This record gives sequence, C-alpha cells and structure tokens, in this order.
Amino acid sequence: MEPCFVFPLKSILFLIITTPWFLFSIDGNNTNRDESSSSSTYIVHMDKSQFPNIFSTHHEWFQATIQSSKLSKTPSSSKEQLLLYSYNHAMYGFSATLTPQELNSLRNSYGFVSAYLDRTATMDTTHTFEFLNLNPNFGLWNASNLGEGMIVGMIDSGVWPESESFKDDGMEKSLPLKWKGTCEEGEGFNASMCNFKLIGARYFNKGLVASKPNVTIKMNSPRDHDGHGSHTSSTVAGNYVHGANFFGYAKGVARGIAPRARLAMYKVSWEEGRQASDILAGMDQAIADGVDVISASMGLDKVPLYEDSIAIASFAAMEKGIVVSTSAGNAGPNLGTLHNGIPWVINVAASSVDRTFGSLVLGNGETIIGWTLFAADAIVQDLQLVYDDTLSACNSLQRLSEVAATISGIIVCKASDSISVFDQIKLVTMANNVKGAVFISDNPELTEWGHLYSPSIVITPKDAESVINYAQTNKNPKATINFQQTFLGIEPSPLAAHYSSRGPSPSFPWILKPDIMAPGTRVLAAYIPHKTTATIGTNVFLPSEYNFQSGTSMACPHVSAVAALLKSARPEWSVAAIKSAIMTTANFLDNTKNPIRDNAKPNPNPNPNGFASPLAIGSGEIDPNRALDPGLVYDSTPQDYVNLLCGMNYSSDQILTITRSRSYNCSNPSLDLNYPSFMVLYNKSRVHKFRRTVTNVGDGGATYSVKVSEPIGSSVEVYPRTLVFKDKNEKQSYEVNIMVHMNETNNVSFGDIVWVEDGGGKHAVRSPIVVAPFGIV
Ligand SMILES: *[C@@H]1O[C@H](CO)[C@@H](O)[C@H](O)[C@H]1NC(C)=O
Ligand SMILES: *[C@@H]1O[C@H](CO)[C@@H](O)[C@H](O)[C@H]1NC(C)=O
Ligand SMILES: *[C@@H]1O[C@H](CO)[C@@H](O)[C@H](O)[C@H]1NC(C)=O
Ligand SMILES: *[C@@H]1O[C@H](CO)[C@@H](O)[C@H](O)[C@H]1NC(C)=O
Ligand SMILES: *[C@@H]1O[C@H](CO)[C@@H](O)[C@H](O)[C@H]1NC(C)=O
Ligand SMILES: *[C@@H]1O[C@H](CO)[C@@H](O)[C@H](O)[C@H]1NC(C)=O
Ligand SMILES: *[C@@H]1O[C@H](CO)[C@@H](O)[C@H](O)[C@H]1NC(C)=O
Ligand SMILES: *[C@@H]1O[C@H](CO)[C@@H](O)[C@H](O)[C@H]1NC(C)=O
Ligand SMILES: *[C@@H]1O[C@H](CO)[C@@H](O)[C@H](O)[C@H]1NC(C)=O
Repeated sequence: MEPCFVFPLKSILFLIITTPWFLFSIDGNNTNRDESSSSSTYIVHMDKSQFPNIFSTHHEWFQATIQSSKLSKTPSSSKEQLLLYSYNHAMYGFSATLTPQELNSLRNSYGFVSAYLDRTATMDTTHTFEFLNLNPNFGLWNASNLGEGMIVGMIDSGVWPESESFKDDGMEKSLPLKWKGTCEEGEGFNASMCNFKLIGARYFNKGLVASKPNVTIKMNSPRDHDGHGSHTSSTVAGNYVHGANFFGYAKGVARGIAPRARLAMYKVSWEEGRQASDILAGMDQAIADGVDVISASMGLDKVPLYEDSIAIASFAAMEKGIVVSTSAGNAGPNLGTLHNGIPWVINVAASSVDRTFGSLVLGNGETIIGWTLFAADAIVQDLQLVYDDTLSACNSLQRLSEVAATISGIIVCKASDSISVFDQIKLVTMANNVKGAVFISDNPELTEWGHLYSPSIVITPKDAESVINYAQTNKNPKATINFQQTFLGIEPSPLAAHYSSRGPSPSFPWILKPDIMAPGTRVLAAYIPHKTTATIGTNVFLPSEYNFQSGTSMACPHVSAVAALLKSARPEWSVAAIKSAIMTTANFLDNTKNPIRDNAKPNPNPNPNGFASPLAIGSGEIDPNRALDPGLVYDSTPQDYVNLLCGMNYSSDQILTITRSRSYNCSNPSLDLNYPSFMVLYNKSRVHKFRRTVTNVGDGGATYSVKVSEPIGSSVEVYPRTLVFKDKNEKQSYEVNIMVHMNETNNVSFGDIVWVEDGGGKHAVRSPIVVAPFGIV
C-alpha cells in the first residue's frame, strides 16, 4: 500500500497513545498575552440598564467606551481592531484588546460591571463509539418524530458539509420559522453548502487572532479541519448513512441520536487555538439565531462561574428555554477534575458501550474476544503461538526480530514491569517480520483510546491465563486472529470511562456533578476525509470518512440530542424539567443488573463496594425512552439559580456579569437548589437539611412512596414519606435530613432517594446522594 501522508512514527504514537495533549491548564495570568506588547484581550461586562440613549446601538456605546479609555499615545489602532465582538444575548458587553492602563480607565467608565482576561478552552476530544436503544415505533423517537422541528447549535470545530451524514434527504424542505441564522461563506465554504439538514454555519476567531496576532488561520471558514465538529454534529443529528464503518469494523447504518433535527455549526475551535471570547460570540449568535439546544463539547478549566463564558452564555440560554449540554472533560479519574460544573447546564460524563472488535481463536477451539481495530483484514491464520516466559520477546527490538525470524508465528507479549504495553506495541510495529501479536493489558488508556499498527489483538490478563496455559502445555500450539469482527452484548456495560473527569465541581461543589453519563468511548461518527484515522506499520497512514473517537466530547452530543427529542415531545417543559427527566430516569444498573462499575484502573477513588460513584457517573447512564415519561420533575426558575449565586456570596457585579439584568435580587440566598440529586459536603458530624418540590407530569393523579438507601456512615430521614397528587402539574414538597456521623478522615459514600409510584411502580424517580468531606473540594 502507498503511504498517504508521511509523518514520523513517533509523533503519531504520541498523538494517539498519550493522554490528551490538549489538556493544558488555562489557569493563571499569562495565558494569551501577546509577548510583544502589553495589550491583552479582555471580556468586559456592561450594565444594560445604564445604556445611554444618545447611542443608537450597543455596539456604538461600546466603541465609544473603549475610545474614551484609550490613551492618546496609541492612536494607530482602528476602532474595529480594538473591539472584537459586541455581545447582547449570551452576555451583555464586549471583548476588546486593551493595555492594563486602558483597562483601568475602562473600569471607571459609566456602565462598567466587570472584566477579565480572555482564556483558552479545552476540547474534550478523542477516539470512540456509541449507541442507544432508540426505536421509531415506540418511546422517545416516536413521540418526538425523530426530533423534527428542533435546531441544535453546535459550538465546535466546524463541519465537513459534503459528508453523507449532513445530506438533507428525507428532511422537510423548508426552514423552521423561528430560524434567523445564516450560512457564512469563507475559505472552501460557500452558502450553497448549507441545506435543510445543516441549516446554518458561522465562524468566530477574532479572539484567537487578537491573542496570537501573527497567527495564520488554516481554514478560515466554518469548514472542519479537525474532525471533532463533524463527529459531534453527526452524533447529534446525522442523517441515515448505509454501510458506514471504520475499515470493516462496526459496519451498519450510521445516524444521529436525533436524526430529523437540524444542525447549525458555530465554529469557535481552531487548530491554532480556542478562546473564551470566540466561544461566547458563538453562543451569543446561536441564542440570537433561535436554536433549541446548544451542544458544547469543551470547557474552561479552573474558573469561577462569573468568568466562565460557557456558564455566562448558558444562563442567558436557560432564560430563553434553550437547553445547554456540555462535557465533563477528559481529566479523570481523579476527583474534582471536571469542568462545566455549572448548576444550569447538563454536565455529561462518558461511558463505554457493550461493543468490542476482534477475536483470538486457539488451536483447541477456544475463542477469546479481545480488542483490535487494526485497519485491514490481515490473514493471521493457524500460525504457531509463541509464548516464552523467560525471554520477554516483546521488550527489545533485537530480541523480537530474532524470535520472529526463527519462528513464523503469533507472539504473545507478556506484561512487563520494565516496558509499557504502549512501547511493546511500538516495538512490534517496528519489527516488521512479526506475523501477529497478542498484547496482555487492561490498561484503560489502551482499551479506551489506543490504536494498533500491526496485525495484533489486546486481551485482558484474566483471559490471558488460558492462552498462556495452552501455549505452554500444547506441543504444537496454534492460533488465529480474526479482524473486522464486531461483537455486541459485552458484559458488564456500560462502565464509567477512566478518562471521564470526576466531580465535585470546583466552581460550585454544592451541586452534584456530573449530572448524567452517556456513551463516549469508541463512538463511530462522521469525520473529515483527509485526516489520518488509522496507521499500518510505520509508514501507511489511512483516512476514513467515519471514525472512532473517545471522550466526553462524544458523550455530550448524545445528551444534546436527547434534550432536543424531549423538547420536541414535551414543548411545555422548562430547561430544568428536561434535565430532571433525563437524570431521574437514568439507569444506574449495568447489563448484568448490578450497579454500574468504574473502568478506572487503578481507581483513585475506591468505594466500599467497588461500584462507580455518582461523582463519576452522576445519576447514571442516560435512558432516553424512560426520560419521556419521568412521572415527577424537579423544576427551577432563573431566580432559583440566582439564589445560589447569592448563597456563594458573589458580589452584585459578579452576579450581574452572569444575569445581565438587575431584575433579580438576593433576598433569598441559598446553596440548596431544587435539584434532582443531593450533595452533602461535611466538616464534622451534623444534620444537613434539604427541601425539594416535585411536579407531577404523569397523566393524572398518583401516589408516590419513598425508598431510601442510606450512604454508609449517614442516616437519611425523608418527610413526608408519601406524596399524593390529585392532578397533573400539581406540586408537592418534601424535606430531607441527612445526618452525617463521620469526620473529615472518612471516605466518600453514596446512596439514593427513590420516589416509587404506588400500584406497580410505573414510575420510579431516583436521586443519588453523595456524602463527602469538604476537604475533597
Ligand atoms: C495575576 O496577577 C496579579 C497581578 O500581577 C496577581 O495579583 C494575581 O495574584 C495573579 N493571579 C494569578 C492567578 O496568578
Ligand atoms: C410511531 O409508532 C407508530 C406505531 O408503531 C407508527 O405507526 C409511527 O409511524 C411511528 N412514528 C414514527 C415517527 O416513526
Ligand atoms: C459553491 O460550492 C459548490 C461546490 O464546490 C459549487 O458547485 C458552487 O458553484 C459554489 N457556489 C458559489 C456561489 O460559489
Ligand atoms: C509578529 O510579526 C512581526 C513582524 O513580522 C514581528 O515583529 C513580531 O515580533 C511578531 N510577534 C510575535 C508575537 O511573534
Ligand atoms: C478509604 O480511603 C482509604 C484511602 O484514603 C482507603 O485505603 C480505604 O480502603 C477506604 N475505605 C473504604 C471503606 O473504602
Ligand atoms: C457566605 O457568607 C455567610 C455570612 O458571612 C457565611 O455564613 C457563609 O458560609 C458564606 N458562604 C460561602 C459559600 O462562603
Ligand atoms: C426580590 O425578588 C422577589 C421575587 O422576584 C420579589 O418577590 C421581591 O419583592 C424582591 N425583593 C426586593 C427587595 O426587590
Ligand atoms: C467547612 O470548612 C471550610 C473551610 O475549612 C469552610 O469554608 C466551609 O464553609 C465549612 N463548611 C461547613 C458546612 O461548615
Ligand atoms: C474520625 O472518625 C474516626 C472513626 O470514626 C475516629 O477514630 C477518629 O478519632 C475521628 N477523628 C476526629 C478528628 O474526630
């Protein structure tokens, strides 16, 4: 085969194997400063209620404000260069390039609320796969007509409009009346590339250009030059594509989770970087354009809510009834690593799915299902199986080549303390005379993200026992590796992904985050056609129109799509009600009917019974059909969220930064929101009180009784223990007292409160409880 692109192997391996290279921290003062001058980009919030009528537009006011703060000695820049964006939907204010002196003078301007440095954001990318049990004949797909009429705004890296997934076959051939967006032209992208599936496409990079004045933008248009945005968009609402596959794996009909919803791309993520000011501009535009749901598979690390552009923009979205779904991040499995821990968004963790690829068949007939995505149908059949306990053939290139030269067979690479399985894979790839290899590993960084570059397969240490035994006891051991095979129904599934960032939320620890888990590991979806997705040996680089990616970035669009389906089926529900329905109906059991397990190895947060903590999976794995009919919902209003901000003791300007409006007040500060989960942060033994109100969204009257499972070391009292609803939409309240009998040396524990409908339990409304020492924040 001819090499398609030639990169040094080392860089490819680095790209694929190491933990995500883009997880740079964005904390601190020195991000994005232009070293050559003292100007930086700031996001500036202004008070809309103080808008001076002498200006005809907000834009004019902002320009004038900047001009008056500018020092006369720097007259060269034009107004437009200084003012990057005016924002009027997601927040109220602008972003601009300013010197510290200009910023100081701006702080004294009329109407000024707050300002902070523009930041870089983290994408939650990587290699994965998907699927959820949706059927057009019943449940959520049926009730929502597959998401028809819904518009999902994607905050991402652009879109590849020619992909089969973005064709508009079968779509209604008119635009929704509420749609106000456009299809923006640019490099390699013209307005005729939008259609009745991809109805809008815009791009935003003024913040990026301001942060890197000499940057050359490679694809200055909504076109995806990365693959991430095409992947997430097709996961949300890709059209039906027959025969989609990755080099023969996972062959089938690709489709989004909301296959009849419309897509609008807001490209804010660039190969050259990504800035909070551009994300804000993209979300601002999406809100103005009339989207129903915003899907943002990216986040800002270690920022307070009032400086987090996703938190700020999503507050405005929530007020307008737009659901915002975001990714938890790929910084797991340590606690407190998640971003987007924002009370009014849906924060999504990632899970595995019940699918794997490839098998090893021993000469005695035993079949071991392993994992391989080797990108060709290699013939590795009835070859000698070589296992040499003493020589560690896979630990040195020289030794490996010698063994392969004398015995033409399949080499079993024993796990070693001196060399990682990633290095063993590299050595086998370089020893080009190895016919086949078996790697023994359950390292989640390999099984969740890894690639193989030679005809080989990965099996677990447990499965390896019988392989080694067979190789050692049989005189003439033989084996076959089968490629391009897809196995479903793998148990136990789902597992919480090792990489998925864990709660609690550093920006608001009093609410349990993440909220929900969805498939994120090895999701197959549309990609860009010119980028390497598979490597064979050291010099063959293959692209693919459909690609496996793993990450919470891949989990988030599943939830965005389900939110769109719910909004279509239940147009009367608020943003909080949609989130509540998704959370209280989530599946906390796996396909063996045991609580979901955690794939983190080693698990830095062991728990008493080895099951995944809600700090990893939130309420559990999303169950779209059940979310259609949750029985009860926990609702909240924008003022309820403001009460939280007041409870945080934020200043009035910090609060105004988020709310943009003085119509909210702090007369009722509280850290307890009417939320479908319970988070107890304790310093010492004491009672923690919560109050909740549930709304009956079932068909008529109903009676619910409570079932509690207490976290170890705590006792839970619920009053009353029965809730009686005479009618639909009636509200009832209850109180929860959680007595913590622990001190800060004790571990995190968890339980749940479930309201079960009497008479057969048609509805079970579940809320997880987490009890954790304050010190883990
Ligand atoms: C940022 O810089 C200011 C002034 O130089 C300093 O007071 C502040 O502590 C710094 N913040 C961080 C997070 O480094
Ligand atoms: C919903 O289910 C019914 C009954 O199975 C079927 O006739 C109808 O076509 C389905 N609707 C959609 C949108 O598929
Ligand atoms: C837009 O691009 C398409 C496909 O490349 C091309 O056929 C069409 O002529 C272009 N339209 C305009 C107005 O440039
Ligand atoms: C940008 O380019 C100009 C002119 O080529 C150069 O003087 C300046 O140092 C560059 N700035 C940065 C930050 O690289
Ligand atoms: C509590 O945490 C410690 C480590 O901090 C761990 O060794 C211990 O096993 C945990 N206890 C339980 C019951 O999980
Ligand atoms: C806010 O301030 C009050 C009064 O000083 C204090 O009791 C409370 O603990 C503070 N809340 C937080 C979250 O710091
Ligand atoms: C605060 O807001 C609440 C709810 O909107 C309102 O009832 C109350 O009067 C307001 N209080 C003040 C002091 O403005
Ligand atoms: C626990 O202690 C921390 C600091 O040690 C404090 O900030 C927090 O407010 C305390 N929380 C409670 C519930 O007492
Ligand atoms: C914390 O609890 C443990 C076990 O319940 C007890 O042995 C220990 O003395 C307590 N520590 C403090 C500081 O109260």
